[in-house]
Amino acid sequence: MSGDQVITVDGPAASGKGTIASGLGRLYGLPVLDSGLLYRAVGVLLQRAGGGLADAAAAAAVARGLRAVALDDEAFRTRGAGEAASQVAVHPEVRQVLLALQRDFAAQPGGAVLDGRDMGTVICPDAGAKLYVTASPEVRAERRWRQLTGQGESVGLDEVLADIRRRDARDSGRAAAPMAPAPDAVLLDTSEMTIDQAADAARRIVEAARAGQTP
Ligand code: CDP
Repeated sequence: MSGDQVITVDGPAASGKGTIASGLGRLYGLPVLDSGLLYRAVGVLLQRAGGGLADAAAAAAVARGLRAVALDDEAFRTRGAGEAASQVAVHPEVRQVLLALQRDFAAQPGGAVLDGRDMGTVICPDAGAKLYVTASPEVRAERRWRQLTGQGESVGLDEVLADIRRRDARDSGRAAAPMAPAPDAVLLDTSEMTIDQAADAARRIVEAARAGQTP
């Protein structure tokens, strides 16, 4: 698989990577994979079936059935779904099942934009452009708090900040495909940026990466 036309956008929760990934998708006419949604769906569907998030085999079974599941369910966007996602994401069995699905998406003719934690390191290490999007925990908590309360969830900013710190530690500390910038990823800190500024900076990073590619 040649990843020349693939753009990977990795980073921690509420860093702005989802907005950046969808903006790049629109700009270049590429399909966008929100890989976090896959883990969110596994966590939520496992809990709905009465399974425990620590049960790796049960979580992998749910992941195997995911191709047939509609991912546009609001239940996958909640605070609880983010937490459940990060708990099932530690299981290598789950990651292995989702690997093929994500690589198939990346291999579409014309390329794709991949949003997640391990897109540039594990899913598509030969991507033509890699971004690692960050922002301070306080800024990320504020963004996520606005999003969740806008969705009607009742939660305090301090709780959201605690969630974010816990999830960062779990995602970067796990043994299987930990969250980390690929060695060839360009870091983009969006703490002080508006959405438009971040989108513009991301576009410039992609263009520089593509210009630097050997034909
Ligand atoms: O939107 P947010 O950044 O909060 O989370 P997400 O991208 O929807 O991902 C939810 C959780 O899924 C993360 O905290 C990770 O534990 C896990 N995840 C992962 O392990 N690998 C990915 N490629 C994407 C998400």
